[in-house]
Amino acid sequence: MRGGRHGADEGGRRPIPAGMARIMMGERCGNGDARTASGTLNEREALLERFVAVRKLTDALAVSLSAEDQCIQPMPDASPTKWHLGHTTWFFETVILAALVPDYRRVDERFAYLFNSYYESLGPRLPRPRRGMITRPGIEEVRRYRAEIDRRMACFLRSCDPHVWESARMLTVLGLNHEQQHQELILTDIKYALSLNPFEPAYGPRKHVSGGGPAIRFEWLDSTGGTVVVGHETKPGFAYDNEMPRHSVILAPYRLGNRPVTCGEYLDFMADGGYRRPELWLSDGWGCACSEGWVSPLYWRDEGRDGWSMFTLHGRRAIDPDEPVCHVSFYEAAAYATWAGARLPTEFEWEAAASGELVAGNLLDPEFVHPQAAVAGEGLLQAFGDVWEWTRSSYDPYPGFRPMEGVVAEYNGKFMVGQLVLRGGSCASPPGHLRATYRNFFPPAARWQFSGIRLAQDVS
Ligand SMILES: [Fe+2]
Repeated sequence: MRGGRHGADEGGRRPIPAGMARIMMGERCGNGDARTASGTLNEREALLERFVAVRKLTDALAVSLSAEDQCIQPMPDASPTKWHLGHTTWFFETVILAALVPDYRRVDERFAYLFNSYYESLGPRLPRPRRGMITRPGIEEVRRYRAEIDRRMACFLRSCDPHVWESARMLTVLGLNHEQQHQELILTDIKYALSLNPFEPAYGPRKHVSGGGPAIRFEWLDSTGGTVVVGHETKPGFAYDNEMPRHSVILAPYRLGNRPVTCGEYLDFMADGGYRRPELWLSDGWGCACSEGWVSPLYWRDEGRDGWSMFTLHGRRAIDPDEPVCHVSFYEAAAYATWAGARLPTEFEWEAAASGELVAGNLLDPEFVHPQAAVAGEGLLQAFGDVWEWTRSSYDPYPGFRPMEGVVAEYNGKFMVGQLVLRGGSCASPPGHLRATYRNFFPPAARWQFSGIRLAQDVS
């Protein structure tokens, strides 16, 4: 990621290459423009293929939603689907095309104000809580914007000068990972929005999923700790700046739960007065639980003699006690751990345990987005997918951390205060997006992500 050249004035003094002119004039740009020097034909086509696949998945996530569904903003933290569609497109247009194409002309200058998320260096923007007020452009215009930037990006990736290829490649990979993050947010944000609809409509029908049944028995997995190396190498492969540099940490002997905490186990906590016993809670957490009136995870509802139900993206239904508990805040996770005679893992304990695991699991499938019970296997189960796992680690820079250069320096580093790290990904994380070093982060009171609990203990 470092070394990306994306200054707004880069290349402005060069004559406009023919392929670039076509990008701006709306002409077609076919394979005949593909360069063979830096950025071989195969490299360029492979990246373009990935670009198309990621963009299509985003479009697919919105296909079952009405225009009205895609416009509302149920709380400041949850953005409308339409805004996600526009923002991810704006990211490619701003960070890549506007920066690397000489004399680039934007599709619509107003979109910079509407779809800039938090980049101070890119000028004024619509305040976040007002994203739901964007009734115009309508969804069809945003879709046309996406299609036009898809066309320009395809043309650019096929025909850009060899000397900008490396910057183009790195920034496109960043843009694709950025879009994948928003794919998850589209799902978590629309889930929150639909849950507030008086009739709690489903995002989509649940595809038949085989399996189910009793969750595998809880066990502790002991680790001797010691000096472990965490974080991502600068190369090869993509990682965000917040995962680097790779460095050593010392871990005391510890143990982790073999699977995340289930709904059934969490019901035991609730039945034992978990939400009524301040001694189990961090002071801030207890204050938050009281002021917000929390008595259960988000989306749960007491149905009296019928027990508890939960809203899912596939409609409301009874709690499945074998599924991982989901939509809990850090505060709830920490209170549960205290009640269970345990604690939450540090992010490094989690990474050391998960680094040998295959990055696979219950990941994003638009037809079924919900955590599933762990019914088979041994060792560390569900490390990836199902639910993000709260850690006890503050989201801090690693020793020697350097933000990416240019506009994207604002991507991660400036959020490194007041947030907790989550690890492992969820059922809404797209395949191909996760790795053992991946650091997600949210404030401790956040509950609308697919966030759950894995227990840890010291080994004395
Ligand atoms: Fe973003």
